[in-house]
Amino acid sequence: MDKFLVRGGKPLRGKIEIGGAKNSALPCLAATLLTPETVTLHNVPYVKDLITQRRLLEDLGATVLTPELRTHKVTARNVDIFEAPYHLVKTMRASVLALGPLLSRFGQAKVSLPGGCAIGTRPIDLHLRAFEQLSAVVSLESGDVVARAPKGRLKGAELEFEKVTVTGTENVMMAAVLAEGRTVIRNAAMEPEIEDLAELLNKMGARIRGAGTPVMEIDGVEGLGGAEHTIIPDRIETGTFIVAAAITDGELEIKSCRPEHLTAVIDKLREAGVEIEELNQSTLLVRRSPAGLRASDVITEPHPLFPTDMQAQYMALMTQAEGTSHITETIFENRFMHASELVRMGAEIHVAGNTAEVIGPRKLMGAPILASDLRASASLVLAALCAEGETLIDRVYHIDRGYERIVRKLRSLGGDIERISSGIAETADEAAGAN
Ligand code: EPZ
Repeated sequence: MDKFLVRGGKPLRGKIEIGGAKNSALPCLAATLLTPETVTLHNVPYVKDLITQRRLLEDLGATVLTPELRTHKVTARNVDIFEAPYHLVKTMRASVLALGPLLSRFGQAKVSLPGGCAIGTRPIDLHLRAFEQLSAVVSLESGDVVARAPKGRLKGAELEFEKVTVTGTENVMMAAVLAEGRTVIRNAAMEPEIEDLAELLNKMGARIRGAGTPVMEIDGVEGLGGAEHTIIPDRIETGTFIVAAAITDGELEIKSCRPEHLTAVIDKLREAGVEIEELNQSTLLVRRSPAGLRASDVITEPHPLFPTDMQAQYMALMTQAEGTSHITETIFENRFMHASELVRMGAEIHVAGNTAEVIGPRKLMGAPILASDLRASASLVLAALCAEGETLIDRVYHIDRGYERIVRKLRSLGGDIERISSGIAETADEAAGAN
């Protein structure tokens, strides 16, 4: 079990390159199952979830070449298995993204029903109901979702999600692109990752309109071809490093990002006393304002509002802000586990239902703490970098799922952090060797 040992109190200074978006690379890799031709994806982040997704594609019979660490050339010509097994789904629930493409191209799919995770039960009922509206027959068989297109090909339909679901929208997009006729998706997710997936699918020959808006129209086609695509930068990694600069009272130049993908985060952090200057359309210069950090309330909502994936990082920052802030989590039912760990470090946080009240500023002291999920891990690393003394963070395998080479990046900025009993390659050449 990896641990991070962090000695806090040092301002982070320097330049950081943002990597590809994990939550775009995952559906885009799944989309390669939709064609027998080769799809080349660039800027795929080297994180554990993508290693898992690659393994899933290979288990299904696809060929995956990585001529460079972050370039995946996938050829799903010989896919002859239509099942995502439990041992992969239990480690990464995004494996459910295999359902849409397998059902779409092969008329059948079997995916282990993903269990819940630390942040919530994470059902996929909305995905399955949407597949049924596209004429699929869906059943549960000893823990597996089994879906079939009765006539071998799905039929387009008008459907409306009763609540916004990001991977649900992505799964239905990939099911609809080869269906017979037109599909209209209402109350579709509008995240930048949805637009990125639509751009890839359209490059492959799909006919999708309205991605990034609440209503998407998809005209099914007979087949899709190969394509080449570069994954968008990770907006959550960008937001995490903005908070890192502010919480350590340092200054960071954040490069290769897309500020327009995290407008709500930038607006909120500016309101909270973070100076964020756009040097150009892909570079931000970030520091804490001289007037200091101010408490500011936030509610997590679907895009384009404040993302739930930035909630934990924001809470860490609010422990250093002057005043009382209220953080309301509306997306997941149990996404405050980082709060109790921050309290162990000296924060004053009171959780009542889906709202956490943070009273600041409070001096954080290093302590042994536990990471519980991907974004909570990031929050605890940020707090440890700001705390006085040593913090030992356990179960950091969570952070390796979504942050590429986080230790190496933070050390390059002056952060005093080291990984103990590392099992993960931290450098590109080590990783290439590991491949
Ligand atoms: C995606 O998860 C992201 N993961 C999550 O990022 C992100 O937190 C989440 O969207 C919300 O933005 C990927 O893209 C791989 P949802 P997803 O379906 O699609 C409920 C990270 O840290 N729901 O939008 O699983 C669900 O329980 C991860 O990178 C149903 O009830 O989230 C939740 O309360 C964590 N039934 C809400 O909807 C369903 O069928 C939103 O979930 C589907 C979802």
